[in-house]
Amino acid sequence: MLSVTCTAPVNIAVIKYWGKRNEELILPLNDSISATLSTEHLCTTTTITASPNFTENKITLNGVEESFENKRLLRCLSEVRRRADEHDKCRKEILKWNIHVVTENNFPTAAGLASSASGYACLVYALACLYGIEKEELSAIARQGSGSACRSLYSGFVQWKKGCHDNGSDSIAIQIVPETHWPEMRILILVVNDAKKKTSSTHGMSTSVKTSELLKYRVSSCVDKNIEALTKALHDKDFELFGKITMQDSNQFHAVCLDTYPPCVYMNDISHSIVNVIHQYNKVHGEIKVAYTFDAGPNACLYLLEKDVPDVLRIINYAFPNDNVKSVEYIKGIPVDLPES
Ligand code: PMV
Repeated sequence: MLSVTCTAPVNIAVIKYWGKRNEELILPLNDSISATLSTEHLCTTTTITASPNFTENKITLNGVEESFENKRLLRCLSEVRRRADEHDKCRKEILKWNIHVVTENNFPTAAGLASSASGYACLVYALACLYGIEKEELSAIARQGSGSACRSLYSGFVQWKKGCHDNGSDSIAIQIVPETHWPEMRILILVVNDAKKKTSSTHGMSTSVKTSELLKYRVSSCVDKNIEALTKALHDKDFELFGKITMQDSNQFHAVCLDTYPPCVYMNDISHSIVNVIHQYNKVHGEIKVAYTFDAGPNACLYLLEKDVPDVLRIINYAFPNDNVKSVEYIKGIPVDLPES
């Protein structure tokens, strides 16, 4: 019997991935950029045990047994095993053993808080540790579990390059800058609603690809320019530019969701109030001090610098006093850990 345990962090996109050109291999229409958080806060922990005595594969997610007949899960497993089979140094003797996977998120699953990103990054990393395959090869496999998962395998600010090969071999994640590059950067997560989202990102983006004209414009005319400008903002530690692009990209992504037919409505009234409060706050200060971004859910992620955290927390508590915002997670430092076995 052999067992490994790994922990993987969540990542929060500042330039969003939305839309696939190949649904089977999960190849995106555009590049995206995110920051990987620290595993002290939002993370997935997965233990995989392999044994010649197990009669079947099993998976338990947050204490509930799920079906192993999940296409993406099976694909990640077969891809890792295929690579292990090709390399001499891997543990080939255990490739035929069944496995039991036990995975826990320390935050709400599927509430638009990137649980699939940390979940599949963790699964693939743990499988790689189990069979002994090279960690460099993993982002293209994690991508096939959930697109955004490929970014959670690196710390700091990370770019997922869409690539141009039909087989997806160059659709991988790379680190733009390490976490040490901009140590003052912080993230606040405002949990507006932790219920499971109504429209999954898989269904939402496939409907957007079929119906949204705005998505075509976003992909052809906006994202590449923003990727370039945001990369420069990161290298220059230019918060003004970083914040502007982050907010504009989030707004455009949600505009695409509304341009989808039927529309995908992820933000709610409280989300929109948060947007207003942030714009007011930045206006009063005459500069961008805080930037918001929203994934496929109503919860806000605020990017800001350490020195501004106390004042922004004060304003958030003042503006949302009645538990409208259920909890505020203060992410200290982006990011710290790579998953470890
Ligand atoms: O990787 P998925 O299928 O969970 O899609 C993630 C989509 C967004 O979170 C909205 C954007 C992103 O780049 O993470």
